Amino acid sequence: MQKDVSEDWWRRFFESTASLELSFFPGDEETDLQVTGLQQLLSLTPEDRIADICCGYGRHLVRLAGQGYCLTGLDASEMMLDFAQALLDDCGAPASLTRGDALNLPFADGSFDVALNLFNSFGYFLDDGANVRVLQEMARVLKPGGRLFLDTRNRQFQILYAPYCQPVTTMDGDDLVLRCRYDRGTRRMTSRWSLADDPDRIVHEACIRLYGLDELRRLMRETGFEELGVYGTYGGDSFDGHHRQLLYVARKTG
Ligand SMILES: C[S@@+](CC[C@H](N)C(=O)[O-])C[C@H]1O[C@@H](n2cnc3c(N)ncnc32)[C@H](O)[C@@H]1O
Repeated sequence: MQKDVSEDWWRRFFESTASLELSFFPGDEETDLQVTGLQQLLSLTPEDRIADICCGYGRHLVRLAGQGYCLTGLDASEMMLDFAQALLDDCGAPASLTRGDALNLPFADGSFDVALNLFNSFGYFLDDGANVRVLQEMARVLKPGGRLFLDTRNRQFQILYAPYCQPVTTMDGDDLVLRCRYDRGTRRMTSRWSLADDPDRIVHEACIRLYGLDELRRLMRETGFEELGVYGTYGGDSFDGHHRQLLYVARKTG
């Protein structure tokens, strides 16, 4: 277990408006393409009950609900859910939002046909076992044969550039420095943003467990998933090890 990062970094980070800027969420055009990709790669049907686990401010959820799919979004962050609700209100699309922890999903067994976990929302726990339990929870709330779409960072790509350091100017005009490093022992990428003129003053931190395909495959098998496809892009390009993201599509066995 990594000791130099606070256990609940992600709870604080995603309650802060800074996370909206520092997470580099894909914009509208890319999100539209991602939603089209989800529909195709998961062969979504209008009957599917879809859970967006760690839905954030709802950029996928709102678009899918707007197209008539039946959506439930879950996130731990009140701030993110408030933004998601505002987007839903704006477009008049129905979807249910729940505040909760992916470690202990507040849904009955077999509630959903599809579970989504998108854009680097997996691997936040400093305990590897807890990250695996998130997979187990997603398996539990899926019906037998239900599909999972996990979009996570590809370890092989991410570690090519680590460690690195780059200046960041926020929309409020604050000059920060982002320092990222990868720990081969814990297999975690830690990002710290500090004030440019006071490098010891850390204002935000994040720490994500990175997975390579072999390890993810093993974990998926162990948690009761059968692989349907592995992609490097939402356009359906096969994952070749060098893509930034690892998109894993699986079906719950049994
Ligand atoms: C990088 S954002 C991605 C949001 C969204 N999936 C997207 O693609 O825009 C990660 C989100 O996961 C949520 N999250 C992370 N771990 C969680 C957990 N254990 N339970 C509930 N939400 C969690 C955070 O609050 C945050 O909103």
